[in-house]
Amino acid sequence: MNSVLIGDIKIENPICLAPMAGFSALPFRVICEEMGAAYCPTELVSARSIRYNGIGKSYRYMRIDPEKEKIPVIQLFGSEPEDFEAAVQKILSDPRFEGLKMIDINMGCPVPKVVKTGSGCALMKDPVKASKIVEATVRALETAGAKMPVTCKTRTGFDDRDMGGPDFVRALAESGASMICIHGRTRPQMYAGYADYDAVAKMTEAIRPCGIPVFANGDIKDGKSALKAIERTGADGLMVGRAARGNPWVFAKIKAELEGLEYEEPAETERKQILLRELTERCIYCDEDAAVREFRSVMPFYIKGGQGAAGLKRALCSASTVAEVKEILGFD
Ligand SMILES: Cc1cc2nc3c(=O)[nH]c(=O)nc-3n(C[C@H](O)[C@H](O)[C@H](O)COP(=O)(O)O)c2cc1C
Repeated sequence: MNSVLIGDIKIENPICLAPMAGFSALPFRVICEEMGAAYCPTELVSARSIRYNGIGKSYRYMRIDPEKEKIPVIQLFGSEPEDFEAAVQKILSDPRFEGLKMIDINMGCPVPKVVKTGSGCALMKDPVKASKIVEATVRALETAGAKMPVTCKTRTGFDDRDMGGPDFVRALAESGASMICIHGRTRPQMYAGYADYDAVAKMTEAIRPCGIPVFANGDIKDGKSALKAIERTGADGLMVGRAARGNPWVFAKIKAELEGLEYEEPAETERKQILLRELTERCIYCDEDAAVREFRSVMPFYIKGGQGAAGLKRALCSASTVAEVKEILGFD
């Protein structure tokens, strides 16, 4: 794919990891970059919580490592422009975030707990508020002398009666968003059915006069689906979510297949090695017990489709130490 500019950041091969709560831990993001992802934002973090409680407990979800990530990006969610402004100030005054390159704003999360607070996809119902959030975030960055792009990730509509998508994204672009990623589903669809690339295409068209890149998202899992998404939406870049779970190789596969090259799937041993690497690296950042527990919902994705997967999955899901995981995988 052609490179794109987000603000003044050049994105080569613009195929990124879509943020995923529970999956987008730093070790996984680094592995995805090594496999060819252009960049990998953190999962969503509450701007309001950062404003009122400080970085504190949110840090485990927003850890970045500019030495290992080319383009570290933090995703924030919230409903009030003032929360974003305050959160950005706190982030920028914390040395742990030196090297941060972009802020992404979540305007697509369909989870009722988030939507109820006016955040995530609920912002699609309130384009004025959503625009003010973008403006406040851009302003807070500029005031702090940290001119970095602000991007947004949204859906095709709040629901199928309210498909104000094109006007919504146009407003975001006019308010200073430097890239908009569109997941081709409405809020009630959650992740069901197929992504509606025609709806994404209409939104892409609406943003075109503003001159910022658009990324398409939804159901991309290989070269063929990537090509379909590019052709049908006219987007400049792609984000890959579920297909990357336990499968960071998907980025190498998409790149190879788009270039017309044969791609060889990783061997089972390699899958297990990378599983173990992600787990071991997760243990650097939190205690082993918590890391293994959290990783229980990730491990089945790494072994999916392999030999004896059902039995392995059962065993892995009751493991509580790295040593146990190693033994179950047959690495001892
Ligand atoms: C487990 C899970 C967690 C997710 N968490 C986030 C999140 O934190 N922020 C966000 O913008 N989207 C989140 N999403 C949505 C994905 O980024 C993406 O938009 C969606 O999965 C559609 O893309 P896909 O078809 O490639 O999976 C999440 C999706 C899943 C499945």
